[in-house]
Amino acid sequence: MNAPANVPANTKHGLAAGDQAAPERPDWTIDQGWSSYTPAQHAVWKTLFERQTKLLQGLACDDFVKGMDKLPIAADQIPNFEALSEVLYKATGWQVVAVPGLVPDDVFFDHLANRRFPSGNFIRGAHELDYLEEPDVFHDVFGHVPMLMHPVMADFIQAYGVGGLRAQKLGRLKELARVYWYTVEFGLVRQSEGLRIYGAGIASSFTESRFSVQSPSPNRIAFELERVMRTNYRIDDFQEVYFVLDSLDDLLALAATDFAPLYERLATGPNYQPGDVLGTDVVLHQGSGEYHRSKRG
Ligand SMILES: [Fe+2]
Repeated sequence: MNAPANVPANTKHGLAAGDQAAPERPDWTIDQGWSSYTPAQHAVWKTLFERQTKLLQGLACDDFVKGMDKLPIAADQIPNFEALSEVLYKATGWQVVAVPGLVPDDVFFDHLANRRFPSGNFIRGAHELDYLEEPDVFHDVFGHVPMLMHPVMADFIQAYGVGGLRAQKLGRLKELARVYWYTVEFGLVRQSEGLRIYGAGIASSFTESRFSVQSPSPNRIAFELERVMRTNYRIDDFQEVYFVLDSLDDLLALAATDFAPLYERLATGPNYQPGDVLGTDVVLHQGSGEYHRSKRG
């Protein structure tokens, strides 16, 4: 099934279960099968890597670039997860494990809680560079792994895994998933030169990387935890709002937050739509809303 050409490749990732049959191992991991990649598949990686690396200059945050530089990720071939994990493990104790696609929530959280990042081992086809039904190796490795080299992000994503397992038991996954979505996937951070991307959903997207930082259309609002947890997100198009951290170090406090009292508060009170701007928001950029308005006709 294909989506319209202008739908960006950010559907579904970050959570959700796949509908394919579970593989043999209970943790859903498979061998990456690196030696089975074809020259054509390595060529797709090269095309994606080169155009995205060029595009991200001046858009990705410094820590993304630093993480990328230290990893065995380059244009010439799809990275080998073992080689990748060796470097990553020494830096922050994380590893990359191969999975066949989306995995059930509890499996996903358990991997994160144990510092294993599940990555799709497949790559999109050359005819669908900007469309993804499920996160592939380019999204997962190019988008996520550089930030896992950052010690604070490394701790934060592990804490998210632990929190995810708990939230699932409490039935509060929807609210917690919004935190992941608006940070790990679609987060922006302030740097002295301006806003920069650290979220993997943006960093791996040819179309959304520029939109998120440069378009006048979306709102850009200072990150505030409860506000974020009350805000729906779009899975079918560019985000209408990006939440902005002052610094990646802010994720440290977030990782240490006790969500239990928050869940209680969240059980009542408002839920916000992606395009809402509240009187209490610290608005860094009030979006024109033009892009999504034109889509709605
Ligand atoms: Fe992702």
